[in-house]
Amino acid sequence: MMADKRRIVTGEREQQEVTYENKLRPRTLDDYIGQEKAKEKLKVTIEAAKKRGEALDHLLFYGPPGLGKTTLAGIIANEMGVNFRVTSGPAIEKPGEMAAILNSLQTGDVLFVDEIHRLARQVEEVLYPAMEDFAIDILIGKGATSRSVRLNLPHFTLIGATTRAGMLTAPLRDRFGVLQKMEFYTTEELTAILKRSANVLRVSLDDEAAVQLAARSRGTPRLANRMLKRARDYAQVRYDGNVTVDVARQALDLLDVDNRGLDATDRQLLKTMITVFGGSPVGLETLAASLGEDSGTIEDVYEPYLLKEGYISRTPRGRIPTRKAYDHMGLPVPEEEA
Ligand code: ADE
Repeated sequence: MMADKRRIVTGEREQQEVTYENKLRPRTLDDYIGQEKAKEKLKVTIEAAKKRGEALDHLLFYGPPGLGKTTLAGIIANEMGVNFRVTSGPAIEKPGEMAAILNSLQTGDVLFVDEIHRLARQVEEVLYPAMEDFAIDILIGKGATSRSVRLNLPHFTLIGATTRAGMLTAPLRDRFGVLQKMEFYTTEELTAILKRSANVLRVSLDDEAAVQLAARSRGTPRLANRMLKRARDYAQVRYDGNVTVDVARQALDLLDVDNRGLDATDRQLLKTMITVFGGSPVGLETLAASLGEDSGTIEDVYEPYLLKEGYISRTPRGRIPTRKAYDHMGLPVPEEEA
């Protein structure tokens, strides 16, 4: 039951999803569904870099988790025909570790740094000359006799990913040539992704079931694919293996995902805003404390979708629940707002 206890909506990677190798990931831009604006821009950038025989400009992808930042970075490396190296902000503890990774790159390689906003300051500083001048400065010796030696690097491409561009320091953000926001996916796009995934996983998925799963995955492919796997388990254990609309519904209910794709934490958040704070503007930290949740998680994982779907809105004095939130939670709208 542990898997069911995990919140399906957080978009946290499950263990088997941590590595880049994942057969559900598309390998080419043509196979990648959705993010049309980003794809269009990237196609031009890739073609131009290829024509000039240069490495691609450094790129930053930002947006909520699970929208395909890592996948897109891998595709870019594949389309450029270069190596794809993956690391993350918290994984690199010392400047020397970053220097070693950079020094091991070959011309044109893509270095992907997930959660780049979590790089230690000193580690981040190694990136400045690396991104700008393709060089690292190494300090040799100690004390009065120490000197700095510049080591040249091959021209490489840094692709950073973060949940919020605003969390990056200005010097880092300014060194990216392209800043690309990742959007939530439409139900149609998610349906297409689910059909593709079902094909790859050799699961029989009814059209109506695909739409049902798509509509309840918060605009997020990672959640859609995760739900498909749970529905497949359910279909294989309880039924004949086909994911029908009934199977899909039962799997989603088991995961505590409601008919709008909101999970237990989403609903708790709305309920708290309505019942504890009476619908008045509430600050992020206050809300987080009341929910016993990390404020960063609320801001990066929960809020973006609730805002986009219009369950909450932001005012200068804090977040407020909208009429849609009251309706969804089946709670009466207070008199003065009704
Ligand atoms: N799997 C996960 N994200 C995808 C996407 N955007 N397109 C195709 N398959 C995917």
